[in-house]
Amino acid sequence: MTTRAFLVVTLLAFCGCSLTFAAKSWWETASFYQIYPRSFKDSDGDGVGDLNGVTSVLPYLKEIGITGTWLSPFLKSPMADFGYDISNFTDVDPLFGTMEDFERMVTKAKELDIKIILDFVPNHSSDECEWFIKSAARDPVYKDYYVWHPGKLVDGIRQPPNNWVSVFYGSAWQWHEERQEYYLHQFDKKQPDFNFRNPAVREAMNNVLRFWLEKGVDGFRIDAIYHAFEIEADEDGNYADEPVSGWSDDPQDYGYVRHIYTVDQWETPHLVYEWRQILKDYEAIHGGDERILMVETWSPIDIVMHYYGNETADGGQIPFNFQMISNLDYNSNAHHYAEMINRWFQYMPTGRTPNWVIGNHDKNRVGTRFGAERIDLFNILLLTLPGCSITYNGEEIGMTDVWISWEETVDPQACNNEQEGYEWRSRDPARTPHQWSDTANAGFTTGRNTWLPIAEDYKLVNVKRERGVALSHLNIFKNLQELRKTATLQDGETEVKALNDYVLAVKRSLGENYTYITLLNIFDHIENFNLHEHFADLPAEFEYVLITDRSIKRKGDKTPTSSVTLMPHESIVLKSSVRV
Ligand code: NOJ
Ligand code: MG
Repeated sequence: MTTRAFLVVTLLAFCGCSLTFAAKSWWETASFYQIYPRSFKDSDGDGVGDLNGVTSVLPYLKEIGITGTWLSPFLKSPMADFGYDISNFTDVDPLFGTMEDFERMVTKAKELDIKIILDFVPNHSSDECEWFIKSAARDPVYKDYYVWHPGKLVDGIRQPPNNWVSVFYGSAWQWHEERQEYYLHQFDKKQPDFNFRNPAVREAMNNVLRFWLEKGVDGFRIDAIYHAFEIEADEDGNYADEPVSGWSDDPQDYGYVRHIYTVDQWETPHLVYEWRQILKDYEAIHGGDERILMVETWSPIDIVMHYYGNETADGGQIPFNFQMISNLDYNSNAHHYAEMINRWFQYMPTGRTPNWVIGNHDKNRVGTRFGAERIDLFNILLLTLPGCSITYNGEEIGMTDVWISWEETVDPQACNNEQEGYEWRSRDPARTPHQWSDTANAGFTTGRNTWLPIAEDYKLVNVKRERGVALSHLNIFKNLQELRKTATLQDGETEVKALNDYVLAVKRSLGENYTYITLLNIFDHIENFNLHEHFADLPAEFEYVLITDRSIKRKGDKTPTSSVTLMPHESIVLKSSVRV
């Protein structure tokens, strides 16, 4: 029996009543923080962030109320995709440090009660991984570890097996001289795809999880899971073409075909169920807090829900909720926001926990996508919704994208294509070094150079300065973390609605506890509402518990419920003056 089930049962037995109470597991109201290690903190002056750097600033994560951090990969890699091309799944890349550095990081994190979540990249390895090299050499153990195909002959000329395209542009098939076959790579040609139909591959990957569990990690973020399986080959060993989408006239472009055979195959969520079982087995033997899986899948929402699990198997606790990333933009109105949030509640299977994501190392920064005036708005929204929040490093201080010239661009998603249009393909602008202070290189490194340029605004936008500015993004973020500890925000019911086209409201209430209402003015008009017209059973008066630099009210000020005014782009959190 899990600790949680045990608590429920004991409580029921003790009360002798049908009270439903379930102690929450640590991750269910966690505030997660994604660290992109290359860019977080450099300890050795080489201009690239590293593990000792992360360890040195773990107290900062504590300061900003973080429960757990998932780190993008720091394992052995030729860095063709900056660590998402792994050549050894159980070793640390020297660029980031050593295994001892990793162990020190985990020890320090445990001291501070911060959970460490590893990025697990099961879909592909590097072409420099020993497994791939052996596979290419037809080593009997490894020969079917990857997806190989001899290709087809057209007019005597060898061609790739079919029209599949890589996410990073061009055919998804790469000819391999030694093996005299093509291999599949859904991303860069230096990232060959594993063959998950081979049980040996599954076991190898299961062992990777076991290795890191032994090292003390608290869970994994699973990379690109929807690419794990491709359609099975037909009886002649061939893979069908994907249908042309009509969205692009360039057959090399990922959008040229509809991906019905290379992503979202029905078997894929079952892999996650298998991995969750490995975590549970580990817990059963070693005890400790629940280990978690975060799942990255850019799939239609009904498919995403399969990753939570089903009646017979648990899946990942946190299938990333990308609704707000995928479906909102600068012009979205309050009804769109409400719809995107409520969609998750509508689709989520009973008993599961929602999560909220607004950015990561693959997307433009929030302030660039939605406007700098909406940075606090999204932090407030993420941290006052129920369930867990996931913040990408730098969003708490309001970092924005940095323009990077074509010559300085390093992201394969941009470099594999021509210069024209690179700015919207490149992910570099959201990956620049973290801005710690107003000193040289923003306090990120003591070295002279940094792997990507430092933002020009670093003297204004940095941790040190923002600590001292009452209503800085950073202090608002910290204030939110305090509010989040209240019973209502931890356990309360939630009602999300647009009050008109411009203002979004999130009401959180819990029995006789205080009620909290988040109001977000997405646009630049002054708005006034009688909240009684929108929500039932509200008391006559509310108090401001969180304001931003757009507010003319102060924290502690009161407002009649019948007339709440919002300034342009103002976001606030109100608390009922009395328990309701
Ligand atoms: C998703 C990761 O977030 C991205 O950065 C990477 O390029 C691809 N998966 C391939 O691993
Ligand atoms: Mg370094």
